[in-house]
Parts: sequence; structure tokens; C-alpha cells
Amino acid sequence: MSSIRRIAVLTSGGDAPGMNAAIRSVARSASALGVETYGVQRGFAGLVENHFQLLDNRAVGGILQRGGTMLGSARFPEFCQEEVRRRCLDQLAGAGIDGLIVIGGNGSQQGALALSQMGFPVVGVASTIDNDLAETETTIGVDTALNTATFYIDKLKDTATSHHRAFVIELMGRNSGYLAAMTAIATGAEMAIVPEAETDPEAVADDVQQTYANGKAHYIVIVAEGARLKAAELTEYLCGHPCGFEARLSVLGHVQRGGSPTVADRVLASALGSAAVTALVEGRTGVVAGWSKGAVVEIPLEQATQLCQKVTPELLELARVLTR
Ligand code: F6P
Repeated sequence: MSSIRRIAVLTSGGDAPGMNAAIRSVARSASALGVETYGVQRGFAGLVENHFQLLDNRAVGGILQRGGTMLGSARFPEFCQEEVRRRCLDQLAGAGIDGLIVIGGNGSQQGALALSQMGFPVVGVASTIDNDLAETETTIGVDTALNTATFYIDKLKDTATSHHRAFVIELMGRNSGYLAAMTAIATGAEMAIVPEAETDPEAVADDVQQTYANGKAHYIVIVAEGARLKAAELTEYLCGHPCGFEARLSVLGHVQRGGSPTVADRVLASALGSAAVTALVEGRTGVVAGWSKGAVVEIPLEQATQLCQKVTPELLELARVLTR
């Protein structure tokens, strides 16, 4: 018989499509096991302020298909302070909570790890459009963000072709170029610039010139926000070094984080939310529910929060070769 009778769930860091589906899965999976769920508003910031709400099965109705997170989310750098984390543990104890589920990406799971190292039962759910957690092939929100980025880049390609222009397009990804590399393959972009590899603006300008000389009507370069060579910097360089195409900059921004989750994200969120409850109830804490080789995996938080390398030179080469 598990000692877990009441759990809390929060969403933290950048929101991601599918977070609501994960909250619903947590609440209903817990309910099926006779465990009560409380939602914490605005992530770790709400935890320290004691913002709990009961999530029974009806409270999480109608949210599966919605973007954003019904609980709200927040960046909360103060959580690095041990004293702040102690206050959170006091709030959890005061509300009679036996375990916590943290839905979020790398930064949020580092918070989960810190809390779990203080002895409280914590399980994570891998959710971020950045796909920056190690040992999970994907995270909740990535598929929707890829589809959103692809939808807009297809349109930019139309106008790029009409005007014979080079478009420098900035996508999100603080430490990971996953969105940029995968979207480059999905849209046939001529180049992807990512934090995982060095790129010289001169080499890009040469490639733009060569592509122009080869008779192509456009040049699309996708730059991850976290790449050392910034999108704005590259656009300025291309404008100052004419290479056939006129250059324009387009920053997709937070549109990538919104919208109704795709089927893949809804199913992933449903599976991971439920797996997190099972892990917590069965006493396996300090892990995050992720996805590998077609199945749910429980990854120790220490490992999941290590820097990961999902963008390989082979992926970048594939993107390049297919657009020659
Ligand atoms: O959630 C991840 C992310 O979207 C990153 O790609 C980006 O760097 C960051 O969040 C932006 O954060 P904020 O919305 O707090 O500006």
C-alpha cells in the first residue's frame, strides 16, 4: 500500500503545447488510484506562495486540446536559494501533500532535482519545445512547435521565392538547435545554424552566393536563438556583403510556444503524465518521465538535466545535401 494519498502538480518555465493534456493525465490517473491531486498556480513561484487548487476529474475537463497551461507558469530564479526551497517544502507539508509532479524542461527539472535532493518525493514530466532534456528522444510540445514553425516558414519561402530573397529566420532554442535543425529538414531550408556547431558568416555568404549562381530563387537560413552567430548579426552581414539575394530577417518568437497540441503531443502528454503518477505512487522518485524507443522511460533527474546533444553533424549534413 502506497503512502502517497495527495499529490501536487505544477507547470514551470516556458509553456509548451500539451502541458494541459499532461495536467489532465496526472489528475485523472491519480484519481483512478484513489490519490487526490492539487494544482499549483504559476509554477515554483506559486508553490512558495501557497497557491493550491483541487483538481478533481471535472476540473481538468475540456483542456486536452488547449494550448498554454491552465495552471499558469513562471520563471522563478529565486528557487536556486535553499531558503526559498525550504519555504516550498513547508507549504507542501502544510497542505498535506505527499509528492510533487513537475511538468517542464531542463531548468524546471533542475528545480525538481534540487527539491528531491532535500528529501521530498518529486517526479518530473519532460515538457519543453526546446527538447533540451537528455535521454528522452522528445518532450511534450516539440511536435506542435515543429509544425507551427514549418507552417510559417513555408509561407516565408513563398515570398522569398517571389522576390528572389534570402530569409534569415530565427527560431526558439536557448541551448538546443533541435527545432532549427528539424525544421530546416522539414522545410528544405538551405542552412541551419545551431548552438551545437560553429558557423562563420563568411561561409554562409559564400553559400548564398553559390546558391544564387546555381539558379535557385531563394535562400532560407534558420538560426536557433541560442546559436553563437545571431540571426540579426547574420542578416546585417549579408546586407553588407551582397551575394545575389537581398536579405531579410524574420523572428518567429513566442508563436512557437502556443496553439492546440498535435495528436503526437496529446498522446505523449497523456502517457508521460500517467507514468509520472505511477512512479510517484510506487516510490520511484527523483526521476523524470520521458520517451525512448517507443516507450515511456524513467530517467534519473541528474542525468536528464545534463547537457544533451540531439543535433548531430549527420542531421545538419542531411539538411544541407537535400537542398543542393
Ligand atoms: O521554453 C523555452 C523557451 O521558449 C526558449 O526557447 C527561449 O529561449 C525561452 O523559452 C524564452 O523564454 P521567455 O518566454 O521567458 O522569454
